[in-house]
Amino acid sequence: MRLSRYFLPVLKETPADAQIASHRLMLRAGMIRQASAGIYSWLPLGFRVLKKIERIVHEEQIRAGHIPMLMPTLQSADLWRESGRYDDYGEEMLRIKDRHGREMLYGPTNEELITDIVRAHVTSYRDLPLTLYHIQWKFRDEIRPRFGVMRGREFYMKDGYNFDLTREDALHAYNRHMVSYIRTYERMGLQAIPMRAASGPIGGDNTHEFLVLADTGESEVFYDAAITDLRLGNREVDYNDREQVAAICAEFTTPYARTDETHDPAVFEAEVPPERRRQSRGIEVGQIFYFGTKYSEPMGATVVNEKGERVHLHMGSHGIGVSRLAGAIIEAFHDERGILWPEEVAPFQVGLVNLRQGDAGTDAACEQLYAQLQAAGVEVLYDDTDERAGAKFATMDLIGLPWRLTVGPRGLKAGVVELTERRTGASEELKPQEAVARLTARFGPRRAEPDAAWL
Ligand SMILES: Nc1ncnc2c1ncn2[C@@H]1O[C@H](COP(=O)(O)OP(=O)(O)O)[C@@H](O)[C@H]1O
Ligand SMILES: [Mg+2]
Repeated sequence: MRLSRYFLPVLKETPADAQIASHRLMLRAGMIRQASAGIYSWLPLGFRVLKKIERIVHEEQIRAGHIPMLMPTLQSADLWRESGRYDDYGEEMLRIKDRHGREMLYGPTNEELITDIVRAHVTSYRDLPLTLYHIQWKFRDEIRPRFGVMRGREFYMKDGYNFDLTREDALHAYNRHMVSYIRTYERMGLQAIPMRAASGPIGGDNTHEFLVLADTGESEVFYDAAITDLRLGNREVDYNDREQVAAICAEFTTPYARTDETHDPAVFEAEVPPERRRQSRGIEVGQIFYFGTKYSEPMGATVVNEKGERVHLHMGSHGIGVSRLAGAIIEAFHDERGILWPEEVAPFQVGLVNLRQGDAGTDAACEQLYAQLQAAGVEVLYDDTDERAGAKFATMDLIGLPWRLTVGPRGLKAGVVELTERRTGASEELKPQEAVARLTARFGPRRAEPDAAWL
């Protein structure tokens, strides 16, 4: 992408009403623009980040054996009356009437809609296990939308629903989600700690929230410092292997980690030695629930089991805050000059900076580098504008692309360009072909996950 033809409305001034770094930086870097309270447009740079996050979420869900689909944002109130939640949900639900006076709502979540689909088509234990998910916009009329996309009213969420014959099968689905979530966050460079939580309007008593530690987080958390050493890494996980998946969950849930809603000081003190006790704040980037037959009973979602008996489905639901993650990643990775994107979610991988736009030799060298990198499948943002070098660097630092390739007449005379890592600031002078080879080796054509190749 050429910056001269792109749409990157960066702000010089720090927006006054943005209270936390990620909100300020998303506005300044031209990633989002508020449309109304808690509702944002995703401008081109922000949109690229959102899609990268979404893709990782898809890949890890598909890897875990979960099946993507898409449900609408608008739902009929009738379904929510069946579950009893139409009245329970309260002011957070945006209620709408269509031209015929029929009551509709903008979905805050989808348990009712998915249960309606499954009860219509799934009739036998042979159709199970089944986990369906989608990534779709949600609306919750939050009383206090704030912190930009972190607590919006309209937000993008992955929500998945498992349908199983027995409690044991549903708990395996719960565990599968836990492991796939840990992996999802790690791929984005984040450590999100599963913490025992309270269930809220979804219901059920088996639930964990995933929290990224950050001073600006809205949740108060208590944990054993030992948990921050745990990583899933590149472990081979067989999601059908119940014992392996359960063992990983046990590893990640044994050290004490709870949000203030479930925190128990007596247990904390009994289980965790004083030097390892931590109290801090966290950003909730996901939550998983097992709630048994809470929806299948009122909505009549049943199958016939091996013995020919009709039984209610065991269910759970599992959410990832896709749009919130864009903010959470920036909270975790920024400095005083701007964002420090982890490579997996960076809007572009490389920023190519032409220090003397209009100089024939420099332009030609940049054009060649740009063409070669693009041909190699590297995502490049080429600053081909007439701005001063200082302004170009400031913009690149602000938008936080992991690598900057700087090309100027002086370097070219010596046969070199400069490759700089945004995170460390470390720079290296390389021959242009070496720089291309280095970046191609790092980012070359991306291999899609086998089953996610359609994405
Ligand atoms: N208002 C919001 N703005 C942005 N993301 C949200 C919002 N509400 C929830 N999310 C994200 O969606 C995920 C799943 O939602 P859920 O757990 O049902 O929400 P809540 O914790 O608010 O009840 C949350 O973990 C969070 O990451
Ligand atoms: Mg939650």
